[in-house]
Amino acid sequence: MLGGAAVVATRAQSPQVTTTTTTSPALGPLPATMRRVSLDVDGVQHTVLVDNRESLWETMNFQLGLHNSNLGCDRAECGACAVLVDGKAVNGCTVLSARLGRGQKITTVAGLATGTGVAGLHPVQRAYWLDGGFQCGICTRGFIMSTVALLRAVPKPTTAQIKDGLAGNICRCGEYAKVFKAVNTAGAEMRGEKVTYLAKPVTVLATPPAAAPPTIAGTSKTFDFATPLSTIEEFDPFAEELRKVSGILGVSGNERSVTIRWDPARFTEAQLRDVLAGLRRAVK
Ligand code: FES
Ligand code: FES
Repeated sequence: MLGGAAVVATRAQSPQVTTTTTTSPALGPLPATMRRVSLDVDGVQHTVLVDNRESLWETMNFQLGLHNSNLGCDRAECGACAVLVDGKAVNGCTVLSARLGRGQKITTVAGLATGTGVAGLHPVQRAYWLDGGFQCGICTRGFIMSTVALLRAVPKPTTAQIKDGLAGNICRCGEYAKVFKAVNTAGAEMRGEKVTYLAKPVTVLATPPAAAPPTIAGTSKTFDFATPLSTIEEFDPFAEELRKVSGILGVSGNERSVTIRWDPARFTEAQLRDVLAGLRRAVK
């Protein structure tokens, strides 16, 4: 890790506008090798001290605790770390944080979804998930971000344009056929066309179906995962398993935390933690 300022992120001002305050220890002149920058990541402002040599991926992961992109080669060859800067896909492992404090909008895969579950995903995320455009998933976040950039620039790309748009991304599992299918599916949905997916014929719902009114109020609490999920796509299968447990009344969350409503007459919080550990999702 390069650099080392302590940062505190807060959401404030308005529901859409967020900001960050810093507890940077550096008062007065900075060393020539350091720079104070304000990074706009997924709509949140993070003011942070960075080493001039520090990559955006390093700053996000080591200083800001944002684990929203994967590191593959760390040398601008695989695209696993791709994020958007002002809508253009760039390799987070290579772009320098010190150059990104001028109001540029940084978008990660965590900033794409607009709701919960599959229906709340960005069309590109949904297409990769339901068309199976991944295997181990190491490359997937980068492919998704490059696809978002491509489809914003070229709403109906040809195969040659998809190859060109994703040329900076490598999938070592070789899922290119399904990746290309996902790009075409996402493009169709973003153009307002009705789409079906390889996984199963799914009609995209504009909004998730309304939940049945609970018959038991229950106890609700949000838990942070001891180890965050690798991707948001891992949440739904986990939530589905958890909902099968008798006494679980509601489950929602993301790759970092889960909010659970349960019947306190069935088990205590400690027993609930054991249930989560049994599902290999221990919480703090
Ligand atoms: S990790 Fe950045 S391009 Fe491979
Ligand atoms: S899904 Fe494994 S590297 Fe692409």
